[in-house]
Amino acid sequence: VTAGPTREPLDPVRFISNRSSGKMGYALAAAAAARGAQVLLITGPTALGPPTGCEVIRVETASEMRDAALARFEQSDILIAAAAVSDYAPAQAAPHKIKRDGGAFAIELRPTDDILAECGKRRRPGQFLVGFAAEIEDVLVRARQKLKAKNLDLIVANDVSRPDIGFDSDSNAGRLLFAGGREIELPEMDKSQFAQRVIAAVVEARKQMG
Ligand code: CTP
Repeated sequence: VTAGPTREPLDPVRFISNRSSGKMGYALAAAAAARGAQVLLITGPTALGPPTGCEVIRVETASEMRDAALARFEQSDILIAAAAVSDYAPAQAAPHKIKRDGGAFAIELRPTDDILAECGKRRRPGQFLVGFAAEIEDVLVRARQKLKAKNLDLIVANDVSRPDIGFDSDSNAGRLLFAGGREIELPEMDKSQFAQRVIAAVVEARKQMG
């Protein structure tokens, strides 16, 4: 399970990040462990304590998260990518703290690697890949596109334009879109309940795969 935000350094004291709290990913890791899975949680910086029964690897940048995830992907049966990985990182981190000189300056950003898409390319038969799609419009259409583009079995489509769910909230709602076309609508509920429903759906879908 990947979880939380990443931090992309600008200099030794500053970074670019996002509002992900890590709550959804941690809840998924806990729910999977509670069902008997051997869970590795690869997490960006969060304020959360480690979920019970999980191995935890802490990372900061998208690049570190990628390395940690790819190192263990081959041995894993299920990947759940709940992390809000920064899509861009500063092309160069300044070695010293950037000083204010009063003038404007631009930061060049370069795209990071898409961890989930890379796993989607490397996947072997029997592996099950779950992604999240945080969308603000055309939620289901875009989520379906990501499901295909990243070669996933399941994507959780989230409408993040709703203030009551998503980033940093304690509850979530969304629709589970399976590669085979099946859909499950999950109404708003606590993130830990939401996680249990997602894990139950994964278990069920894997049973059907044989
Ligand atoms: N993801 C990842 N590595 C990245 C970016 C995203 O593993 N570098 C994963 C996320 O963990 C999530 C899914 O891919 O499961 C989100 O896909 P993405 O295309 O990044 O969607 P958003 O960032 O939500 O939306 P957009 O690209 O439209 O901004």
